[in-house]
Amino acid sequence: MKVIVTKNYDELSKVAANEMANIIRNNPKAILGLATGGSPVGMYKELIKMNQLGEIDFSKVTTVNLDEYVGLSGDHPQSYRYFMNNTLFNHINIDKNNTYVPNGLAENIEEECKNYDAKIAELGGTDVQLLGIGNNGHIAFNEPDTSLVSGTHLTGLTDDTIKANARFFDTIDEVPKTALTMGLGGIMKSKKIIVIASGESKAEAVKGMVSGKISTNMPASMLQMHRDVVVIVDEDAAKLL
Ligand code: F6R
Repeated sequence: MKVIVTKNYDELSKVAANEMANIIRNNPKAILGLATGGSPVGMYKELIKMNQLGEIDFSKVTTVNLDEYVGLSGDHPQSYRYFMNNTLFNHINIDKNNTYVPNGLAENIEEECKNYDAKIAELGGTDVQLLGIGNNGHIAFNEPDTSLVSGTHLTGLTDDTIKANARFFDTIDEVPKTALTMGLGGIMKSKKIIVIASGESKAEAVKGMVSGKISTNMPASMLQMHRDVVVIVDEDAAKLL
């Protein structure tokens, strides 16, 4: 794992955006695995700026997102499809037909998961997968457990995650209890992985990911087995390294 420590969140966002921009410049048809949440918002703002200045072109890029809440439609303000449209896709020259997010309203969840993995395989896999990390060490919605599922699957969210994500909803009761998520196997297949984390609340999880024992109880620690991972963290998140 390569670890880059930045002064603050702004610098983290710029460094991460530059990593992504280089991938797109080297391969205009890049397949980008993307994440939602608070961590990538600054990076997405930087990518929008670069796109508007003509420094990067998304017209041939394809994106595949990690996860989606079950029960929220794409136009629900807290759905991950809405987040991606609102935070990135509406502001760049990407063809929305080339942006994939699992369908949280799918009638047949099992089929949706199978089709999602088949789509990623058909695209040839992701060139890079961007990840945030949960306070409890989750990546995507792969929560700490005694075993982890490899492919895209339906999962329950832990109380920790429901509490952490309540900040985006009016009340904690509105946070969906289940989600569709890419599995660890799918994430590990990406050619490159970039993890971003900011703030002291992530310090324990960052330590577990970078130097802890590899364990399904700390899902991010599994990334130690991937051969091209770049971890970009600010000083607060790097505090325990
Ligand atoms: C989001 C995702 C989650 C977040 C993680 C960190 O698509 O899969 O694993 O990356 O919960 O969230 P933030 O960035 O809000 O702290």
